[in-house]
Amino acid sequence: METIYICITLFIVVAILSVINYLKRVETHVQWRNKLAKLDVKNNGDNDEIIKHFVGYEYPFEMFLALNFCFYRTFCSPTIASVYRKTGTIYNTPDKRACDTDLLMHIWMDYGLDSTEGKASYEHLNKIHGLHSSKTRNVDFVFVLCCLVVDAIQFTNDYGWRRPEEKEKQAMWEFYRRVGQRMQLTNIPENLQKCYEFVESYTEDNRQARVTEDGQVLTEAITKLVCQWYYLLPAFVCRMAVKVVLYQMGATFQRKLGLSKPSIFESLLINTVLITRRSILCVIPPRSVPYKLSDVIMNTDYGCPVSKQTITKVGPLDMLAKIQ
Ligand code: HEM
Repeated sequence: METIYICITLFIVVAILSVINYLKRVETHVQWRNKLAKLDVKNNGDNDEIIKHFVGYEYPFEMFLALNFCFYRTFCSPTIASVYRKTGTIYNTPDKRACDTDLLMHIWMDYGLDSTEGKASYEHLNKIHGLHSSKTRNVDFVFVLCCLVVDAIQFTNDYGWRRPEEKEKQAMWEFYRRVGQRMQLTNIPENLQKCYEFVESYTEDNRQARVTEDGQVLTEAITKLVCQWYYLLPAFVCRMAVKVVLYQMGATFQRKLGLSKPSIFESLLINTVLITRRSILCVIPPRSVPYKLSDVIMNTDYGCPVSKQTITKVGPLDMLAKIQ
């Protein structure tokens, strides 16, 4: 009898806290929407502010996932996969490669693309890419750029606590368009709609995207890394989740990684977990301070704070030796 009494009391406390937290979330979201209405996505300062809020407060985990799952998209491209396979960085040191990528790219989002740190990060990245310029193509860079936008929108839309506002989606596009300009890319699509069309046509075209051994090897390397990150889950569950999520990102590209279509049971199971997670997110308190992934990685992996100087330590050691 006493146990039942304790359970009912606990249930009521959790229910009340959930309602309070949900209302807090709604209130902070209304405040953010009012502020968002006054910001201009095409103004660099405003654009950085929207992205900082989007990544730091609203969707830190979804943006982290989107960025890392975006790696997979690039593996169905024979030209990109062959460059990655030759340098061997993703295959030999996937954890360092993924963390360094998260670090350099999150600096743009956490600090602002045109901040001192943001500028140091893309200038450093341009030097790394410059080492491979004879083997890389503009069209492939534009493809990766567009995938980053498509995935950021899809992951936050499908797995975040709320769906992104239309203006936030436009801001994401504008943000990566600015990134592309700073990487000296040409023929960047004109708008978000064209960006989607670009990803679609590149992925559908068998000359640009198809199953290759390089792509499969890289896919396996990143999948092993994901299983390593989520080591508390049995590996087969982790692989199932990767397969389902990749399929939801796009059936054609998932097939072009050489993966099989997930069964209805696998999709149902993983989506139930994801929907449950989404519901839990709605009833936990909103963030009061931004989550800055770049600070976390820089401190953990390099033992120092993010700065113009420390950014130059990031990257594959053999490549750093050539650019410094
Ligand atoms: C907008 C598009 C792209 C972005 C934002 C981007 C971002 C990055 C970042 C952040 C790193 C640093 C990782 C590290 O320090 O280990 C990196 C490294 C690298 N990227 Fe890109 N990248 C893009 C497109 C491409 C393309 C199309 C290629 C062509 C194959 C490419 C080839 C490389 C290579 C070879 C490295 C050095 C690490 C390695 O060997 O894997 N990138 N990229």
